[in-house]
Amino acid sequence: MKGEERVMTIQTKPRSAGKQYDPLDPAVKQEPYPYYADLRRDEPVKWLDGLQAFSVARYDDVDKLLKDGRIFSSAQFWPALLGEYDPVPEVAPMISMDPPGHIHLRKLANKAFVPTKVNLLRDRTYRIAHELINDIIAKHGQSGEFDWAWEFTALYPVTVIAEVLGVPTERRSEFKVWVDLVLSAANRAAYGPEKLSEIEKASKSLRAFIEDLYDHRIDNLGEDLISSFIQSEIDGRKMTRLEIIQMATLLLIGGVETTTNLLGTTLVELKRHPETYARVRADTGLIPALVEEVLRYNPPVQIIFRHTTADVELGGTTIPAGSAVMPILASANRDETKFANPDVFDIDRKIDFPLMSFGQGPHFCLGNYLSRVEAKAALEVAMERFAQLDVISDEIHWIDSYFARGPHTLPVRFKAA
Ligand code: HEM
Repeated sequence: MKGEERVMTIQTKPRSAGKQYDPLDPAVKQEPYPYYADLRRDEPVKWLDGLQAFSVARYDDVDKLLKDGRIFSSAQFWPALLGEYDPVPEVAPMISMDPPGHIHLRKLANKAFVPTKVNLLRDRTYRIAHELINDIIAKHGQSGEFDWAWEFTALYPVTVIAEVLGVPTERRSEFKVWVDLVLSAANRAAYGPEKLSEIEKASKSLRAFIEDLYDHRIDNLGEDLISSFIQSEIDGRKMTRLEIIQMATLLLIGGVETTTNLLGTTLVELKRHPETYARVRADTGLIPALVEEVLRYNPPVQIIFRHTTADVELGGTTIPAGSAVMPILASANRDETKFANPDVFDIDRKIDFPLMSFGQGPHFCLGNYLSRVEAKAALEVAMERFAQLDVISDEIHWIDSYFARGPHTLPVRFKAA
């Protein structure tokens, strides 16, 4: 579609009933898409008082800014997301670095995530999915109810990435609670002292956990990723203890919550689209197309963060140097100039433009291939092991974040196959 066609598809009334977009507003967090549509139409680049940042809603603008790391720096990503709750504030994580530092670390980390390496994990992903379902059936019997978000999706990606990093899996539920709390620091402006102190404790626990892991590994090198970081060199320099602890934290935070949410939202969308569910049940070969459409339609990462290094014009607005900028990936994925009928959930759609769900440009998600492999395995095993697996309620309790999206809890009714 061409840009001018936007004019033909817009509606005359705001779809958000005229309310202003405020990412911290609970109504927006519950259902942000009508607000994104209004932004794309009326305010493609908008100043948000609450977050002291510019939001960017259209596909072309999001794409442009993500590919221009010189003007749109990543250096403030982690500080913007986590503030003082960063578990390893002494060193920046890769996601929050600009070239040249970013390139070196990225090259090092890439080695572990190329498809040939990830494909070696494929069997493990199936095994882990089977083991979790065995546990569910052992606990709940052959039929009944369980929480898909907490008893499956919260444990599955953390177990996969834990195996990659050589993390013992016994503490994975506890770990998931810490990661959720640390990520909820994105909403810190809206929280009182009690919640903030919980976040602080979680951040400290997460750090202590990874420090212990490093300190154990340094004397017990193995085949895992932390051991390989310990041994690798970048330009003749080894990574420091803190750099490795920060990298492991980033991989755990980046690799856990996101895939967990993707698997949770997939079941939500299957509940909302029963005809699609029936087709996927009859032909599990449709699972990759289903996953792609969930990634487009309701992605796990809604928004990311950049910072301008110079005055710049974007979407008809001048953004001054030193401004916080929030590209809304989830809005770009519904841009009517790129995706026909963007608000329709359609696993048969032809995708002509790359999805924004994993970002674009130099920081394009390191785990994009791994998460797709994980999602495919988990859903195939779930379809095979459960003759019935249905979300019970139409009302979804989404996690409390404008940045990450997925169901907080998801009670399902099941029958073992
Ligand atoms: C559905 C699952 C996932 C989604 C939606 C997702 C989303 C994203 C997005 C949007 C970015 C770009 C950030 C930016 O441009 O600033 C990113 C970067 C990153 N992701 Fe993912 N991610 C997922 C899974 C994973 C997994 C499984 C891992 C690791 C095991 C991972 C590790 C990373 C890392 C390390 C970066 C930073 C890359 C860099 O700075 O060069 N992600 N991810």
